[in-house]
Amino acid sequence: MNILFLNGPNLNLLGQRQPEIYGQTTLADIEAKLRELAAEAGVTMDFRQSNHEGELVTWIQQAHGKFAVIVINAAAYTHTSVALRDAISAVAVPTIEIHLSNIHAREEFRHQSMIAAVCRGQIAGFGEQSYYLAFKAALQLKSS
Ligand code: DQA
Repeated sequence: MNILFLNGPNLNLLGQRQPEIYGQTTLADIEAKLRELAAEAGVTMDFRQSNHEGELVTWIQQAHGKFAVIVINAAAYTHTSVALRDAISAVAVPTIEIHLSNIHAREEFRHQSMIAAVCRGQIAGFGEQSYYLAFKAALQLKSS
């Protein structure tokens, strides 16, 4: 089983970016922890970040046939991107939406997710744990 983790704009700044909202942990720390979990579970994974919407779209398209599950923190594109939504619909790879913060408890413009309706589910508000919970959910999706 191969899991694709995708991270959208500004998540490369985790650790220094609004730590009161997003925590002190860096994206590299999260990737390292996920790699430990993947090794324990005997699965493989890719972990990518981009500040460019089109690059994320391309990666989703290329996931078809290569990855069993996509876990995506689309960051700000969550709230704006029809292109990401269409890409997720097009590839038919089960996709889990995640967020560090609880987007529903923040500014109103963050309450809407363009991708939620085409994802299998959403995990939001647990900080870095959102990634590890999504990893568990990805394993469950494949075994169900
Ligand atoms: C985020 C929430 C988004 O609203 C925001 O634009 C982000 C990060 C999160 O992980 O909490 O960049 O996706």
